[in-house]
Amino acid sequence: MYGMVNKAVQDLIVTNHGAGVWENIRQQAGVEEEMFISSETYPDELTFRLVAAASAVLAVPAEVVLNEFGRWWILKTTQEGYGHLMKAGGKSLGEFLANLPNFHTRIVMMPALRPPEFECSDVEKNSLRLHYRSHRRGLSAFVIGLLDGLGEMFATPVTLCHEQRQDDGADHDVFQVSWKV
Ligand code: HEM
Repeated sequence: MYGMVNKAVQDLIVTNHGAGVWENIRQQAGVEEEMFISSETYPDELTFRLVAAASAVLAVPAEVVLNEFGRWWILKTTQEGYGHLMKAGGKSLGEFLANLPNFHTRIVMMPALRPPEFECSDVEKNSLRLHYRSHRRGLSAFVIGLLDGLGEMFATPVTLCHEQRQDDGADHDVFQVSWKV
């Protein structure tokens, strides 16, 4: 993944838990890099090692780390330098989610991006089903954090139901998303 992902994990840990905790996590993950270059790509496995080490050091499940990271990604990372892309995504939560399937295709400055695939179905005024497919496994808790973060960004309370899980043998993950209008 692009270095901006690892850099965002580092920012989140340093801000919320301090530089010492980050150093501990970095060492436990066996990561030699002391900083990440946003525009360079790193093996996915390095990011997964950081999440596993953060889970061990902070003594919380990996899902909690991914969840917190999803909210951080929306509320902090994307606001620094990518605010224009987020604004272009839509004026309300419903509009943003309806546009999500095309979101990553607009990130033209990252030619090596291997983004997830989103699809919307059963679109109503204040709800829809979001289908999530990825080349990677184990990131559905990140998606939940992203959706919570989007709700917060639009000051729109969101309710999520994780209807289908790839981890339980489903073909892909499906989230029923509803919000207040
Ligand atoms: C300007 C805003 C955004 C940028 C610059 C961005 C960029 C990226 C990058 C660099 C990755 C790592 C993948 C790779 O390097 O190949 C990624 C992954 C991902 N992005 Fe985005 N993204 C943005 C917004 C969003 C939004 C709004 C969502 C959904 C609500 C989203 C969902 C995801 C997910 C779920 C992944 C994990 C990869 C996977 O599932 O395979 N992103 N994105």
